[in-house]
Amino acid sequence: MIIKKFKNCGLVPRFLFAFCLSNIKFLMRIKINMEKLRVHSGHKLFGSLKVCSSKNAILPILAGCVLCNGEITLLNIPNFSDINKMCEILKSLGCIVNYFNGVLHINSKNVDRFLVENSLSKDIRASIVFLGALLGRMKRCVIGQPGGCLIGNRPIDLHIQGLKALGANIYEEHGYLYCNGENMRPCTFKFEKQSVGATQNLILASVLLKGKTTLKNCAKEPEVVDLVNFLKSMGAKVSGAGTGTITIYGVDELHSTIYLPIGDRIVAGTYLTACAITGGNVEICNINPNHLSSVLKKLSFCGCQLCIKNDKIKLLANQRCKSLKSITTGVFPKFPTDMQSIFLSLMAISKGKCVITEQLFDGRFKQVPDLIKMGAKIDTFCNMAVVTGVENLSGADVSATDLRAGAGLVLAGLKADGYTTIDNVQYIDRGYDHIENDLSILGAEIERIT
Ligand code: UD1
Repeated sequence: MIIKKFKNCGLVPRFLFAFCLSNIKFLMRIKINMEKLRVHSGHKLFGSLKVCSSKNAILPILAGCVLCNGEITLLNIPNFSDINKMCEILKSLGCIVNYFNGVLHINSKNVDRFLVENSLSKDIRASIVFLGALLGRMKRCVIGQPGGCLIGNRPIDLHIQGLKALGANIYEEHGYLYCNGENMRPCTFKFEKQSVGATQNLILASVLLKGKTTLKNCAKEPEVVDLVNFLKSMGAKVSGAGTGTITIYGVDELHSTIYLPIGDRIVAGTYLTACAITGGNVEICNINPNHLSSVLKKLSFCGCQLCIKNDKIKLLANQRCKSLKSITTGVFPKFPTDMQSIFLSLMAISKGKCVITEQLFDGRFKQVPDLIKMGAKIDTFCNMAVVTGVENLSGADVSATDLRAGAGLVLAGLKADGYTTIDNVQYIDRGYDHIENDLSILGAEIERIT
């Protein structure tokens, strides 16, 4: 109707209308990128909160959906931008994707494409796991380079080495990886180094490969185990997930499933640490405490009281936290690198000095200049940060540089006099479904502004 009316108008209004239509997406993106979080301090956190399913578990599960010929229903799925981007890739491959009220339905019967455009792959690191999934389903894949948070050098050599060992022919041209898996056959492959994404990629590439594939020196992270449990719920034959050696017996096809991914250990850890920073008493539900054991141990050393029952963790913080002597990140079950950014803010306001050593990524202290702007005392040397805790920070205008660094700044803002304004919120939205809503449920005062 509106379009008909404009057809009868003069050339200039028609041009303007067409211009607005074509730019509406662009303008919406600018609006999203202009959003900021304003965090007011002075509120202790109290109450109970259920965390959503884990982003890092859901992303490879979504890639795994292309291996199934039927319908998949995923439960308790948050509205994170990274999840939306993976769904866009699924749609571009021929899947039907519907999301409503935390439930995601995916029908992969009609997957008939094997190209993941650069425009879709470049924004998200986990797009690389479509490589294994598409090789498994279509025996070929053309995929743009993966993107993701700017937390340092993130090579994909282990993914490529493993897929080549399975017999895939892979070469790179014009920013795309061209992969032919027609001659793929099972093998025994040992990863030079543990990698979550590479382990997931090789599992995805092997579940439909006739025969026995053995993967050694695998990542043991809960998100690898959850991917395997999801694949098993569709009929895959995989054993050993959560140990260093995973064995896969290829099956002919995978059937429909309804699956509930694990709770998000990093989101849970973020909110528990938020309470350690502000003081208070919170209960976080839908989380397997074993997935967070290294973090809970540290929170307890800091002086927080913890009470763990089934899938609930209660944290009581009734005094200023003590600094930890040291935090060193590592592969599971060691201290997770994603929680390092969150603990940096906790250490910044704790009593004493802490040496943080980042072992996994080389760009994970990018929020330090902003924390210093807020009054923190932090010195960095290569992959180490020495944090001398101060009693209080002060509010400032700061900027999220990546997902967890951004969340760390939100937490620092909870203990900073006045208010803190954080821009580049789109990074935080990659892994938190409106962090301001969750923290407000617990009593924080945070608003989203433009
Ligand atoms: C996943 C998580 C990320 C988390 C990380 C480590 C997702 C979507 N992301 O990322 O949040 O911080 O695990 O727990 O699940 N490496 C190589 N070559 C490779 C692959 C990795 O050298 O081909 C190195 C990396 O640079 C890093 C280490 O191996 O130093 C571990 O990385 P990896 O486990 O692969 O992390 P991601 O799967 O990318």
